[in-house]
Amino acid sequence: MAVDAKAVDDATAGLPRMDDIVSLCARRGFIWQSSEIYGGINGFWDYGPLGVELKNNLKALWWQRVVRGRDDVEGLDSSIIAHPRTWEASGHVEHFSDPLVDCRACKKRMRADQLDDAGPCPARQGTSEHDWTPARNFNLMLKTFVGAQEDAAATAFLRAETCQSIFLDFKRVRESARQRIPFGIAQIGKAFRNEINPRNFTFRSREFEQAELEFFCHVSERKKWFEHWLGERLAFHHELGLKETRLRVRPHRPDELAHYAHAAADIEFLFPFGWQEIEGVHDRGDWDLRRHSEFSGKDLTVTDEETKERFHPCVIETSVGVDRTCLALLANAYEEEKLPDGETRTLLRLPLAVAPVKVAVLPLAKKLAEPAQRIARELRRHWSVFYDESGNIGRRYRRQDEVGTPFCVTYDFESESDTRVTVRERDSMTQERIAVDGLRAYLQDRLEMAR
Ligand code: GAP
Repeated sequence: MAVDAKAVDDATAGLPRMDDIVSLCARRGFIWQSSEIYGGINGFWDYGPLGVELKNNLKALWWQRVVRGRDDVEGLDSSIIAHPRTWEASGHVEHFSDPLVDCRACKKRMRADQLDDAGPCPARQGTSEHDWTPARNFNLMLKTFVGAQEDAAATAFLRAETCQSIFLDFKRVRESARQRIPFGIAQIGKAFRNEINPRNFTFRSREFEQAELEFFCHVSERKKWFEHWLGERLAFHHELGLKETRLRVRPHRPDELAHYAHAAADIEFLFPFGWQEIEGVHDRGDWDLRRHSEFSGKDLTVTDEETKERFHPCVIETSVGVDRTCLALLANAYEEEKLPDGETRTLLRLPLAVAPVKVAVLPLAKKLAEPAQRIARELRRHWSVFYDESGNIGRRYRRQDEVGTPFCVTYDFESESDTRVTVRERDSMTQERIAVDGLRAYLQDRLEMAR
């Protein structure tokens, strides 16, 4: 779909710039391009020490809300490579493609529906317009070979979505977990798509993580469960602190629906580059189980014990991009705040539950290192803690603000005599003196309040 640049500019006016977020991510160890020392590899990203904590916290929260916190959802961790027939049954071999065009002059390769982003052609005389070939379909699945042969029979695909294995394992999970319809199966894992134009930092990557739930129900209850899961997922994004004004639900128009889908809605976030999907909620009907039954020859129906009806359950899917949600969290939290003294501080107002470091312990001077380290050791048993004894205290606070650390604990010269420390809170910058003995309980209360 062509992008209306003016509408994007209007919607994103006043938001932080993407360049500032990308620069902070690399500088402070959240995310940077994979294989940087070789010049990078397009569409692949590495999460550094803070990035991996952020991502793990997000995944843990999702798992808690979708799997552990319920008795009608089971977890799964399936292999990335599945039997190649999987992708025939799912329709990916035939249909999972984007329209591709090449410029005959400069050789630029683009998705035909994103030509607005191509920029001028550097290779044509007298015009800056590209000389595009007609569009042709390009399958997005990444291929590999399994075993010692490298031929068609050994070809396998890196999964393009995590959900297909959920369908393959449906019967096994249902029977081993002794579940009955309605119930769901969820998993978090890597997915791979050979995107023609990866772009907008991690937003469109070639390797990314999805957190998917497939919820199986009787067709008569499809509407009820669709509404239920859309509500749950929206509540999750609110819980992540994504601002009300930057979150919306966009139901799919009938002409956008996949041929098997009954209803679908995207949950979109307002990124600095415009409104974009972070999660899809889909009513997939009985397409998946029916197709895998056909292709495998295995019976994937269930029987209603009362009516004795045998049927392929209907599937309500929620599929969220972990990387996209991390990016939304960072974009939502990034702020350059003007302070009363005229200075500007950069901070990440990350919600406590996902902040990579919960507490920084900072001795005012190096000679106070020993008792401060003792405090850090004790707190580290409960949370991720950062210890820093170098530089002036104001600058150390700023460094923690910039990575979203909610609390800084300062051990100063008075702490020696009054056995108290200063606890500084990130957002308000207020400071409180807290007894060292009660510090853990104090932080526990503050951190738990956010749950
Ligand atoms: N099983 C359904 C499915 O895969 P999708 O809309 O293609 O649906 C679901 O993907 C989510 O996965 C998206 O909402 C997005 O958050 C994430 N996603 C998809 N392609 C991505 C890409 N190339 N890079 C990063 N995240 C992506």
